[in-house]
Order: sequence, then C-alpha cells, then structure tokens
Amino acid sequence: MTTKAPWDDGPLCYGGDWNPEQWPPEVWREDVALMRAAGVNLVTVGVFAWSRLEPEPGRHTLDWLDDVLDLLHANGIRAALATPTASPPPWFSLRHPDALPVTADGVRLTHGSRDTYCAAAPAYRDAARSIAEVLAARYAHHPALALWHVHNEYGTTCHCPHTEAAFRRWLATRYGDLDALNDAWVTSFWSQHYSDWAQVGTPRATQYLANPGQLLDFRRFWSDTLLSAYTEQRDLLRAANPAVPVTTNYVLGDWVPVDHARWAREVDLVAVDHYPSATGAGAEEQTAFAADLARGWARHGSGWPWLLMESAPNQIHTAGRMHTKEPGRMTRHSLAHVARGSAGVMFFQWRAPAGGAERFHSAVVSHAGADSRVFREATDLGAALARLAGTAPGRVEAAVAIAYDAASGWALRHPGMPRDGLDHPGEAAAAHRALWHAGVTADVVPPGAPLDGCRLLVLPALYLASDATVDWVRRHVHAGGHLLVTWLSGVADEHGRVRLGGYPGAYRDLLGVRVEEFHPLADDEHVPLSGGGTGRIWSETVHPAGAETVSAYAGGVLDGRPAITRHRVGDAYAWYVSTRPDDDTYRHLLTEAAGLAGVTPTCPGAAPGVEAVRRDDGLLYLLNHTDEPQRVPAAGCEVLTGATVDGVVTVAPGGVAVVREEVP
Ligand code: GAL
Repeated sequence: MTTKAPWDDGPLCYGGDWNPEQWPPEVWREDVALMRAAGVNLVTVGVFAWSRLEPEPGRHTLDWLDDVLDLLHANGIRAALATPTASPPPWFSLRHPDALPVTADGVRLTHGSRDTYCAAAPAYRDAARSIAEVLAARYAHHPALALWHVHNEYGTTCHCPHTEAAFRRWLATRYGDLDALNDAWVTSFWSQHYSDWAQVGTPRATQYLANPGQLLDFRRFWSDTLLSAYTEQRDLLRAANPAVPVTTNYVLGDWVPVDHARWAREVDLVAVDHYPSATGAGAEEQTAFAADLARGWARHGSGWPWLLMESAPNQIHTAGRMHTKEPGRMTRHSLAHVARGSAGVMFFQWRAPAGGAERFHSAVVSHAGADSRVFREATDLGAALARLAGTAPGRVEAAVAIAYDAASGWALRHPGMPRDGLDHPGEAAAAHRALWHAGVTADVVPPGAPLDGCRLLVLPALYLASDATVDWVRRHVHAGGHLLVTWLSGVADEHGRVRLGGYPGAYRDLLGVRVEEFHPLADDEHVPLSGGGTGRIWSETVHPAGAETVSAYAGGVLDGRPAITRHRVGDAYAWYVSTRPDDDTYRHLLTEAAGLAGVTPTCPGAAPGVEAVRRDDGLLYLLNHTDEPQRVPAAGCEVLTGATVDGVVTVAPGGVAVVREEVP
C-alpha cells in the first residue's frame, strides 16, 4: 500500500540526478541554494554511490548521506533515494569474478565502467539486496524520502554459467517439458532437437543464424530476471516503510531486454528516461512518442501519472557529436512531457562533474557554473511548473490507439528475416508521427489493454500475435472499432512461428485479404502508389478476399495490385497497409482512417508545427515548434501568464501556452 507520493502534494516534481558524493560539502550547500532558486523540489541521490556507501565489503559509510538528506530536508527538497546497484565497486568484482558478465562471444568483461555485473549471479544479487537493506534500515522513515529509485536503467544481459542455469530453469517453468520447448523453437529445423535440458544453452556466438525462438525467449528471460532483481529490492524497501513508493527508471530502445509494459505492473510509478536522438523537428516527434509510450505503460500498469525521470537540460549526445539545445527547446520539450501526463521534469544531471566518463553530458549547473543560459532557463521552467501545480492527475484525451509490444520488436531483429532493419518500435513511431502531424493525439498501448474510448486501433508491424492478442483485436472490431493493420503484423504466433495459409495469418479474415508473397524493398527503393505518394521498405502480393482496394502499386512487379485496402466489418473499416507510405501519404491515410472512425484533430485551428494536447482537467497545451508566433483559437485563461484568452491565444516562437479552457 503506498500513500503520499511526491506528486500528490500538488507541485509537479522538478529536479534531477544529484551526485553529492562527487563533491565536498561546501558545494552541496551551494547546490541546495541553487536548487531552491530554480524551484527544484525532488532530486535523485546516490544512484552510482556504492563505493562511497560501502568502501569495503560490509563496512558502510553513511554519515555523508545522512548529512545530504538532512540538508535537503532542511531546505524543503525531497529525495528519490537510489539503490546504487547499477555500479558495483571494484572490491566486489575482485571478490566475485564469477559475477562479471560474459558476452555472447564468451568474453568476460572487467571492472572499469558501470553495469558490469551479471544479474543472474547469486553473489551480485546478495550484494545488491544487502546494500538495499542497509539503505532501507537507515532511511525508510527519513522525512526527506519521497520515492525509492531502484538501480538505474535495468537492461544488461550475460551468458555466464549462472545465466545458463537460470535460463534453463526459466524455460522449464515456461514450457514444462522439452517436447513443448522443441515444438515452440521448431528444433526439427537444422537438427537442433534437444533430448536433455543440459543441452539447452544461451544464444552464444554461432556459426550461422541462431534459432529465432531461442533468441526471443532469451530476451524474455532477461526481462523476467531483471524484473526479479528489481522486485526483490522493491519488496525489502516496501517492507521497511510501505508508505514510500518504489520505482526504477526505464531506458528506452528495443535493444533493451525489458518488457516495460509488464514491468509497469510492478512499479508504483512508471519512470522513464528520454533522450531524443534527433536534433531537429524529429526531436519533438520522438518526445511525443516516448511520452505516450510511458503514458500507456502507466495507464495499463502502475496507474496514473508517470514521471520523466531523466532528460537532458542541454546537450544532446548524438552519434559523432554533441548538439547544444537552442534556447527554448529544453522548456518546450519538458512541458511536452508534462502535457502528456508526466508528473514533472527531472534532468540528468544537476551538476556536471569535472571528470569521469560523462563529464561532457549536460547539466543544469554546467562547467560554466550557474551564471549560464541553461541555469536561467531551468529557473524559468521551475517557475512555469509551479504555476502548473496540482495538474499531475490530468489525463490526456485520445481516441486512437497504437499497439506496441516489446517482444514483436525483439522478434523482428532476427537476422533471418526477409529484410534487415525491420523495426516494430520504428513502425509504431512512424504511425504516431503521422498522427502527430495530422494533429491527432494517440495512445500507445500494450496488446490486451482495455480499449474503451478507442475508435481506431493501429497495429504497426506487430509481428507476433498470440491467440489472446488476436482475440483482443477481434473484440475491438466486433464492438464497432476501426482497425488499421500494417505489413508484417500478425504473421507469427507468440513463439515466432509463422501462422500458415497466407499472411497475415492472424488477421486475414478481418482484413479481407490474403498475402501470398513478400517483396521487401531496398533502402533506396520507392514504389509509386496509384492513390498518390510512394511506398518504402516493403511491398507484398496482396489478394483481396472481400476488401476494396484504396491504393494500388503503380509500377514494378506488383503493378496494378492492391497496396492499401479496406474491408467493411459491420459499421467499421479494417484497413490493410502492405507497404510503408511516405510521411505525407501516411498522414493523409491515417487522417482519413481516423476521420471515418469519427476522430478529428485535437485543435483543428492550430497551424502545422503547433502541437496540441487536450486533457480531461480542462487544460489545453499548445507547443509552438515553429519559428513564428502562432495564433490558435482558444478561450479561457492562460495558466503560465495568468492572461485571459478571449478567442485566440498567441504562442511565441518555440514557446508554450497552457490554456485552462472555458466549458462552453
Ligand atoms: C542515462 C543514464 C544516466 C546517464 C545519462 C547520460 O541513460 O541513466 O546515468 O548516463 O544517460 O545521458
């Protein structure tokens, strides 16, 4: 049972990772004064401080953390107190070499970075529990404690003997016996049949393609193993004081072997870290998508709201070079997260260290100190968040849902697929982006989530379809909901075995099509479509079986054959999209599909480049991503300035307006 979470008190959370262990106490005092000036009310403390908390096995030095928490409390700032288990100290690695992780190539890693442990190794788990217990015993009732922040960005894997044994146990639980495992992994192929559990290993480096079922289950196994590492810490922290919520910060990316939707049922608050890789307009699209993912996990897991636990106050680290955020971008992106349901804004990091691997990562207090543009912008954001106090429980209104499934992403990464680079998260993001540009707000939901209020469900390359998922989709359509399915969705069952009889085996009848052959396209290939625009990445031989053709391939081997179809099911349409339309065509298509489902843009009067998010607490967020002032029809009161809005609000270039709308 959890109570009083930080966001329940009214103010939105504001702060970030603070590392007092890197600084002398006089800097702590300066930091806390600066935090107060910036309106900070929550900081993550201790996240990589293990060697400072336990410099030798069993010898704990906590006095400094006592002082830090007392100092925070005296200044009205609360702590998300982290367990430091993402970075074991050197003594741990020397003492327990068997707990150092082994790569798929059989290389055992050594100490020198972070995250260098095997989460299936008993010695690591014992040490992690014991440092968490020490913190729980000392701080569970500290008045500064608002939230436990377990570990940091779970996502590591390993192939050591401990992992192998744990993987076998996990498989035995999942399948019961070897026959079921052989069947699920189709081990009749290439003489892979297992006759003894001892033969089953982790997917280490192989001569040629590895078994796709084994790879998929290995990721699921890691998701469950890391989850158990989290829950055992969570349980002992909860036992020490059930009133304090517990979470861990999610890292996004389909390389991460974590099923965040499933984890959302085990955290008291979904907390995500978000670092857009794009530096231009793509960054706003990525921000909206990440926020809606988090929102979906929270809504169907821990409950409302969620929290942006890390974001960059300034530099974006992209491949090859660092990109400095231009003025206004940090505030706009932060408020985009809040618009979409984050209970606040947290940064990595508060103060930039002088050394260490991430010395050039962005910080609110940069190497230049607090006399800086970043610090001033952070202070202004603190003031803006203060004006939005009490709004964390507001819910976003959306009537389109995009299905997102971690396992489908993992399955499509198998190198034996018909094309490289198949990407379910990327396809979910593309559908979301098309809707974003159409001004239509979308939910992103795990398969099986309740779809009340959803008029159009989109399945974007949702490759895996268990019987339960198929049933979920059918129930939506038979209840009158519209459906839009893109290529490669429903092709395989939950083990990655192809559903036979023509693609997409799971949804042929709903869609009124049968796909006979795939024609993947080269990276630079485009196929013209008769209805306008082009298709990319993928194309297929689609035979209508009840569906009408909306757009056909115009040229190439598929000339004249259907590319996009729709099938009437009751009063609804079930669309099939057998290629990836270019962005404009996809936007038009989704606008039409949404329109036929009765879904219109959130704010039809907003110009392109103005993002509008409407919530059930009466707030309309308007984010102007353009370089021009934008006039948007609205009526009510602008919350950030207190100005009355009488028909039109002007949103400054790169700025944000939040209108508390008048109920007509
Ligand atoms: C996050 C991580 C932080 C820091 C940050 C740098 O993913 O949790 O500890 O490494 O990236 O941008």
